[in-house]
Amino acid sequence: MRAITSKEAILKAVLEAKKKNNTVGFVPTMGALHKGHLSLIDYALECCEVVVVSIFVNPTQFNNAADLEKYPRTVDADLELLSSYQSQVLVYVPSVNVIYEGDVVSKSYNFGSLEDVMEGEHRPGHFDGVGTVLNHLFRQVQPDKAFFGEKDYQQLKIVEKLVEKEKLSVQILGCPIYRQPDGLAMSSRNARLTQKQLATAPFIHKILKEARERFSSTSANELRKWVQAQFASQDGLELEYFEIANIKNLSPLSRKRKNQKYRAFIAAFAGEIRLIDNIALN
Ligand code: PAF
Repeated sequence: MRAITSKEAILKAVLEAKKKNNTVGFVPTMGALHKGHLSLIDYALECCEVVVVSIFVNPTQFNNAADLEKYPRTVDADLELLSSYQSQVLVYVPSVNVIYEGDVVSKSYNFGSLEDVMEGEHRPGHFDGVGTVLNHLFRQVQPDKAFFGEKDYQQLKIVEKLVEKEKLSVQILGCPIYRQPDGLAMSSRNARLTQKQLATAPFIHKILKEARERFSSTSANELRKWVQAQFASQDGLELEYFEIANIKNLSPLSRKRKNQKYRAFIAAFAGEIRLIDNIALN
């Protein structure tokens, strides 16, 4: 499959598709594509005749230089994987220059309380980088709808806010987390896990499921302590945070309220590889 590398060419292709009354979907990725990405593309194809998949490892969203350097880059294999979709899927692989035009910096957004917790707290500047690259990509691609996995649930909320702030006319849709049969959430970072780490990592989802079972009968604080204790006695995984948050504004739960929906979130390290996952609690 041939990748489109210029912003003029991708916009031309999108505008031609729209002229034929096609709905254009967009699945932005950083490559190292896996079944989770393919499930996003399949969701997009259910309501869009044409889907643009971008592959771009965005330097401004990495707050850790080693993480950026080691991020898997597998463009040839990615293109091969996408070739089965034929002309319904357009692949956009811009260079850093095409996206940033020589100015590789993040815009400073104020995403309010959404960026003060969890990923925002532990990865300073990360969401400004995500917002900046998506603002560029949305303007270059001009899709009708864009699809994001709920594995990065906080990112999904940030993108909704970004669209509001930048007054973009794209509809944002969240798609369920795609898991391996053992429960591990699919992630490009999984490619860096050793066999031993791959065997241990499903513990994260196991604990999230148990937390969901305990949620109705336990206070948020007791549940936090219980999760911390489970990780403390589990070799090979180090808990960075466990949080329970309201699904709308992601504010951490202190006292449960009726008619509110909550999700539990985990970030943990397997060696130097950082994994995140989350689950709906009620
Ligand atoms: O979720 C990702 O892969 C990235 O954060 C995204 C949305 C492609 C922006 O670089």
